[in-house]
Amino acid sequence: MFELLREDLVAVEQELGRDSASSVSTITEIAEYLREGGGKRIRPSLLLLAAHLLGYSGPGAIRLGAVVEMVHTATLVHDDIIDGAETRRGRPSPNTKWGNEKCVLAGDWLYMQAFRVALDEKNLRVLDLLIGLTQQMVEGELLQIQKLGKAVSEAEYYDLIFRKTACLFSVSMRLGAVLAGATEAQEASLASYGRCVGLAFQIVDDVLDLTATEEVLGKPVASDLREGKATLAVIHSIDHGTARDRQTIQRVLDDRSFEYVSREQIREILVRNGSVEYAMVAADRYAEQSRVALASLPDSDFKRALLWVPDFVVAREK
Ligand code: IPE
Ligand code: IPE
Ligand code: MG
Ligand code: MG
Repeated sequence: MFELLREDLVAVEQELGRDSASSVSTITEIAEYLREGGGKRIRPSLLLLAAHLLGYSGPGAIRLGAVVEMVHTATLVHDDIIDGAETRRGRPSPNTKWGNEKCVLAGDWLYMQAFRVALDEKNLRVLDLLIGLTQQMVEGELLQIQKLGKAVSEAEYYDLIFRKTACLFSVSMRLGAVLAGATEAQEASLASYGRCVGLAFQIVDDVLDLTATEEVLGKPVASDLREGKATLAVIHSIDHGTARDRQTIQRVLDDRSFEYVSREQIREILVRNGSVEYAMVAADRYAEQSRVALASLPDSDFKRALLWVPDFVVAREK
């Protein structure tokens, strides 16, 4: 996929470079720092594939690719402040380097820069999608704060991860479709694909938080429980484990620390209940569902790349 999109992704990077410049140096520094930190660029890649799949070629896809990446970056800046995270993309997180006050403002600036660039499309549908998206993401983070420390249900978990992650994947696909002048049915198929890939993506992100090392992941691990967040594997152990398992997990959620319950104890509970496998099976199911969503779309290299993305998302290590 990255091969197929090589030139486009280079152009997206150039666009991001131009878009990161502010007359206030702190903003430029923070935006540049994040850009240099890399990242998988999965959202612009999806947008580009959606647009090309339907025959679009023009500057709009590059611009909107940069737009979805900027929206993503803005959410990361704010998310790390909210989560008190100290690393991102293998480096100190912006809040650690510049402090919360500057980063809140830089995040706001990035959001608005994304909208300014999107305005170049002169397409109200594009703005409507981006506004709805931003509200969903903010609502997602807020709902998450409201549910901190609680043993949420699977339904609540899915609602949350749709808003905070899958919605952006879905809108990235929709924006590609809008550029290409897709039919309603085509746009709906691509949006459904994006939603499923996004759900799988966040389920895996949450599993990696439990199973990966910070060295590989480039951001903190075991942080969700410490932040009072119950994710899918943990919810499974709460729902299917012993009363004792429930108490042990709840203790970490209450304490927001591993002071009285060790990470090893949590790991043992998850392993004994098969909870990580359970979450990965759920991710696989969404990966499969995303491929099914593409069934009616024309065959091409772009479609083959889209069919590969869910495998990448589920198998990834960071
Ligand atoms: C991180 O997204 C935020 C989540 C939605 C889990 P990515 O894992 O796509 O972050 P980068 O852009 O590759 O760093
Ligand atoms: C992703 O949630 C939220 C965003 C939309 C930025 P997380 O809090 O799990 O993301 P990471 O793990 O910090 O990347
Ligand atoms: Mg976070
Ligand atoms: Mg996470």
